[in-house]
Amino acid sequence: MTPRLNLPQRPRRNRKHPAIRGFAQETWLAPQHLIHPLFLHEGSGDIPIASMPGCARLDLDGLLREAEGGLAEGVGAVVLFPATPEHLKTELAEEAYNPEGLVQRAIRALKSRLPELVIVTDVALDPYSSAGHDGLVAPDGRILNDETVAILCQQAVSQADAGADIIAPSDMMDGRVAAIRAALDDAGHTEVSVLSYTAKYASAFYGPFRDALDSAPKAGDKKTYQMDPANGREALRELELDALEGADMVMVKPAGPYLDVIRRVREATTLPVAAYQVSGEYAMLKAACERGWLDERKVALESLLAIRRAGADMILTYYARQAARWLAEGGLP
Ligand code: PBG
Repeated sequence: MTPRLNLPQRPRRNRKHPAIRGFAQETWLAPQHLIHPLFLHEGSGDIPIASMPGCARLDLDGLLREAEGGLAEGVGAVVLFPATPEHLKTELAEEAYNPEGLVQRAIRALKSRLPELVIVTDVALDPYSSAGHDGLVAPDGRILNDETVAILCQQAVSQADAGADIIAPSDMMDGRVAAIRAALDDAGHTEVSVLSYTAKYASAFYGPFRDALDSAPKAGDKKTYQMDPANGREALRELELDALEGADMVMVKPAGPYLDVIRRVREATTLPVAAYQVSGEYAMLKAACERGWLDERKVALESLLAIRRAGADMILTYYARQAARWLAEGGLP
């Protein structure tokens, strides 16, 4: 005699058939949601990044190839991160706004070859600073806010002059969104967007990225400008300010360990929300999958879907192209 529970609700009925699961599906992932971060360098050839398998420091040809390949796969946007040669790094990070700098040249090359590509650029001084900080460093080690913002404005305008579509300040200085917006407008770039790294945490998950660019701070850490991983409410304060200052889109970073923050930001704003699945999140998945401990396709797509479910409209991820290819093959089985 089979026992039968007298249940008014049986949630499993909505999971009994793939088509019915399709009706009930709340979130999905498509290539249009993905932005591909790419590393570039001055040298020739592509140099693989050990802690980020599948990623490399690209030369200009490599960059064009990756961007073009991504476009063909449905990934319409890239974000550029330059590895600056040591001799060009200075205390005042002047290379950040050199019109002939690596990023500026790369933007022009990408735009002329692939006019439909959306180019996002990073605004922060760390790739150009001899101290490896996102801002200028005073002799006593303090990170100078307002002096830094003035340079960030020059950096943003030089990127927009070169053809960037979206300027993404990742430096976490106070007031930089308003200042960059005003500087862009004054330079005639009223159509260039600002995607603010609104809640960027002082996270150890950026380790592989800093290896990739040799951009780790020479002294100290980033805790006086990046947010304390213990804090969620503070993200809403940053959000309020960025919205008032004119951000077009806001970002939470990292993504996976901060899904609660993505959700809170999503619920507190009508602006599009981005999340950055950072280098350490990618490296963890890669390492486990290389050992055969996880199924890469399934866990990578699941991790991205979870970030979407938390509330992200768009995701910056090193998996962008690979995910687009998996999705084209049918996505999550
Ligand atoms: C620097 C910057 C960092 C990342 C993006 N922009 C590193 C940092 O703040 O130290 C990290 C991205 C990643 O880990 O994938 N302004």
